[in-house]
Amino acid sequence: MSEIKKIAVLCSGGDSPGMNCAIRAVVRSGIGAGLEVFGIQKGYAGLIEGEIHPLQVSSVGNIIQHGGTILQTSRCPEFQKPEGRKIAATILKKHKIDALIVIGGDGSFNGAILLHQEHQIPVIGIPGTIDNDIDGTDYTIGFDTAVLNAVEAVDKIRDTANSHARTFIVEVMGRKSPAIALKVGICTGAENVIIPTAHIDYGKIANDIDRGIKRGKTSSIIIAAEGEVEGISHTIQKELKDRFKLQAHVCILGHIQRGGNPTPTDRLIASQMGYQSVKAILKGDHASATVFRNGKVMIAPLKECLRKKNEFDLSDVELLTTLSI
Ligand code: F6P
Repeated sequence: MSEIKKIAVLCSGGDSPGMNCAIRAVVRSGIGAGLEVFGIQKGYAGLIEGEIHPLQVSSVGNIIQHGGTILQTSRCPEFQKPEGRKIAATILKKHKIDALIVIGGDGSFNGAILLHQEHQIPVIGIPGTIDNDIDGTDYTIGFDTAVLNAVEAVDKIRDTANSHARTFIVEVMGRKSPAIALKVGICTGAENVIIPTAHIDYGKIANDIDRGIKRGKTSSIIIAAEGEVEGISHTIQKELKDRFKLQAHVCILGHIQRGGNPTPTDRLIASQMGYQSVKAILKGDHASATVFRNGKVMIAPLKECLRKKNEFDLSDVELLTTLSI
């Protein structure tokens, strides 16, 4: 017989489409297994403030199709300090919560593992971020929807770019992660892609635009990941103008990428991860994560998922370059 009677779930970091599907799966799998399930509002910040409430089967009705998260989320500097985690642990213990499920990115997982190490609270991580940049898992909930949002936007920009014979620099999300930029670049037939920390070869970009015009192209799209330094798109725009007298328009997609109805892929993987997270708790796992590997959701040690995964497949850049001539 499992000792676990009460579990809680929270979302942390940037929201991502599909988080609601994971919450729904946690609540219904938990209640189905005879557990009491609690929701924590506004991530670790809400936990520290004691914003914890019971969830019923009906609390998660009609949310599977909605982006965002009914539990809301936050970035919480206080939880990065031992004192913040101590308050959080006291509140969990006061509510007799036996295990905590955290839906978020690698930063949120780092907080979860510290909570486990310092206060012995069992934790399970569910990877949820549009950036698809957590070590140990091939997929994070929200990536597919964010890519779809960006691809649809770039397709629209291409229409007007073609009509006016213009070059556009379209900025997509990903402070450290190249994942959205690369996939969107390939899927929209972009002429160039700029990824965080990589050297920007302005000469090559200018040549590509020129070659395209000569072979009859009526537009050019450069996809730029936002990177860590604000204003990357405007920097590229200025460099192209100053060095090569090339005019380019800037379009920053921003948070539009994080909203909207989750795709079937996000709904499916989030549902599987939510369900597996409860199974892991019932099995007695103490510091695990649900991960997507080789096309399947499985359980792995949380410590394998604590780092940001920023490497990318060079063959994706090659593919984009080969096909955009
Ligand atoms: O959640 C990931 C992410 O969307 C990144 O792609 C982006 O750099 C960052 O969050 C933006 O964060 P915020 O919404 O807090 O400004």
